[in-house]
Amino acid sequence: MTIRILVNPLAREVIEDEVPDRAPLLFHRRLPGYRESPLVDAPEIAGVMGVGKVWVKDESERLGLPAFKILGASWAIYRTLEERLPGGLGAWETIDELREKLEPLRPLSLVAATDGNHGRAVARVARLLGLGARIYVPEDMVAARREAIAREGAELVVVEGSYDEAVERSAEEAGERGLVVSDMSWPGYERIPAWVIEGYSTMLWEIEDELRRRGERGPDLVVAQVGVGAFAAAVVRHFRGARAPTGSPPRPKLLAVEPAGAACLLQSVAARRIVSVPGPHTSIMAGLNCGRPSLIAWPAVSRGIDVLVAVDDEPAREAMRLMALSGIVSGETGASGLGGLLELLRGGESPGHEEARRVLGVGPDSRVLIFSSEGATDPDGYRKVLSATG
Ligand SMILES: Cc1ncc(COP(=O)(O)O)c(C=O)c1O
Repeated sequence: MTIRILVNPLAREVIEDEVPDRAPLLFHRRLPGYRESPLVDAPEIAGVMGVGKVWVKDESERLGLPAFKILGASWAIYRTLEERLPGGLGAWETIDELREKLEPLRPLSLVAATDGNHGRAVARVARLLGLGARIYVPEDMVAARREAIAREGAELVVVEGSYDEAVERSAEEAGERGLVVSDMSWPGYERIPAWVIEGYSTMLWEIEDELRRRGERGPDLVVAQVGVGAFAAAVVRHFRGARAPTGSPPRPKLLAVEPAGAACLLQSVAARRIVSVPGPHTSIMAGLNCGRPSLIAWPAVSRGIDVLVAVDDEPAREAMRLMALSGIVSGETGASGLGGLLELLRGGESPGHEEARRVLGVGPDSRVLIFSSEGATDPDGYRKVLSATG
């Protein structure tokens, strides 16, 4: 068992950051096929972990794709196109009306780099809006994920190298006819990835609304898996922001999970500044194979996360099987948050274990929120993991 645990020395209960609002949710509701993703009560998983309650936000079907990422991509693309049109987009009801309004911008291609889900999401939005798409992928991406992107009608560019190299290549395409839509940010490229983070808030508002409908108090612990940290930034903002919609303190504790070979956030927090973790990044948790945290996610994630763990692939496999027992189809990256938490709860001899448990306050009454952020995005891999006994 390998687990690295870091109790965040920079953590604060409340952080100053952008205030989340419901504009992305209202936008997503107008897209074809929108419906709230399920918030699954998972007593079996709670039993295994010895906690009071576990909710799993199940993102295996989101706007017709098997991951949550289209929430960020669609909002960022929409906001950017709105800015590119001199008079804005004005009123629209249906996607056909929206597509028509984009005529003055054509020909235009959306460009993205991806380790799977983000690129497929950008390709899908391009198709919905009648735009082109060129998606850069690292050479070691599994065939099923590549094919899924190509099926969206996108042109696929295979980059010799890692996800981070694919990001660099894609950034060269920016121009009047190429709109780079990255969830990663770097100096001078900050607005679009900021909208990506905003777009993810839809998931969090849905949880908020659903818990209110059920008359339930919110979670005490929230787990977020981290690639570049955009998703985790949305989670931090929602639960730990100064004007967090989720109510007054005490706010839930937050745990971040990364693969051992690409723990760029953990290493950056340890260094107290953004650092890169060189590839190759070979985890089966493909969406988390990122070597550097996003610049604009950093202020929120470096201060809003209480504990960070980095784990091997095996806990993700175990978590996939456990999710399946609760009726949730969860891929390698999708189940990684649960995997990291399971490993942390077991990590008896690892340095920092006792302190991490104390900081997170995990106990028999804890109410834990986990995100299954994708479904079976590599169906063969998924079947193999499920047929193994572990
Ligand atoms: C399914 C899934 N979950 C989580 C993440 C992590 O998100 P972020 O890169 O914003 O940290 C990704 C990233 O690609 C993903 O595809």
